[in-house]
Amino acid sequence: MFYFNEKIIYDAALSGIQAIDGRPMTEQDQSDNLSYDTFAASVKRSKELEADLQKNPKAHCVLTGDRPTGDLHIGHLFGSLLNRVRLANLGVNSFILIADYQVLTDRDVFDRIRECTLNLMLDYMSVGIDPDRDNVSIFCHSCIPELNQLLLPFMTLVSVAELERNPTVKEEIEAAKLTRLNAGMLVYPVHQAADILFCKGDIVPVGKDQLPHIELTRQIARRFNTKYCPDKPIFPEPQGLLSDAPTILGLDGSQKMSKSRNNSIALKATEDETSKIIKTAKTDSERLITYEPERRPEVANLIDIASYASGVPQEKIAADIGDGGAGKLKQYLTESLNTFLRPIRTKRAELEKDMGYVKKCLEKGNMRAREVAVDTLNDVRDAMNMFR
Ligand code: TRP
Repeated sequence: MFYFNEKIIYDAALSGIQAIDGRPMTEQDQSDNLSYDTFAASVKRSKELEADLQKNPKAHCVLTGDRPTGDLHIGHLFGSLLNRVRLANLGVNSFILIADYQVLTDRDVFDRIRECTLNLMLDYMSVGIDPDRDNVSIFCHSCIPELNQLLLPFMTLVSVAELERNPTVKEEIEAAKLTRLNAGMLVYPVHQAADILFCKGDIVPVGKDQLPHIELTRQIARRFNTKYCPDKPIFPEPQGLLSDAPTILGLDGSQKMSKSRNNSIALKATEDETSKIIKTAKTDSERLITYEPERRPEVANLIDIASYASGVPQEKIAADIGDGGAGKLKQYLTESLNTFLRPIRTKRAELEKDMGYVKKCLEKGNMRAREVAVDTLNDVRDAMNMFR
């Protein structure tokens, strides 16, 4: 299969304690989230969790999710999607959430939500997230009323001040240049807690920016259990699983690959489009290709991507290209990436011809998620002494 290089990626990711973007961890990194949790503690817990996942995959429930806002790209692929495939194939109970309500929190456009939801399904399924597996459920949270109802008790367990302090929300408010802060924006981390806790998810693979939300989720779980069901806790305190695997930089050399910055390669891009985008990628003026992530981040980024796609170690790629220069490196990258993406793109084309099946898969995931949500909400209402 074409996932042959997953192991290389994740062994590399777990082999050293690094910041999420692959740099060695600095004191700044460690103190960033201090009011919520220390970054170092999260990294340590992640490593322990990863070991236990290998040993007892069935003892865990993993929840991951994305907002349906656009095409997933190779940053998502190597950073998180292949990890989801890996965990699902290990047998871990996997819930994959399409967070459609969250799209409303920071943008006014909603006309494409349905289209983006199905597009996200295609991205997921084409990379090998297989909804036909018994342990995999892909669902959208707007389809699960009982999940959303958990918001009501959860909101009473956090203070407005806590929500206002959330560093990720603060950044998003700035980035979205919201002139008027809607309450949904402030509350969405509580919604996210409902996303995670409705299925008693105990592991949430995340990037560093999501850690404050995980910490809030842990607090909500703890407070709910302590207040309403101390003898028989309903919720686990979920842990973030930091995938400090590759953070792929934008092809323009900027810190993040993102569709809005036009510096990414969408999974569904054609081979020609892929080749064209790679031709425009930023490099530097040195002819000899070497792998020096600190000194030559743009060149190293291209070598990294080529390495994830081909399974060939970075140093070997650099040595092989040598004085072939950036042109030859880009050619190598184009070929290895297109080769890696070819079966994914073929699968996508097949699925696109059968959207009825794709929709059925989503409906099945929604049904499974709903069954679980109904049970959880019943337990929650019983614990709160509510009539039902
Ligand atoms: N907030 C996440 C993002 O912007 C998406 C998301 C919603 C999510 N609910 C979640 C991620 C629950 C993990 C767990 O990408």
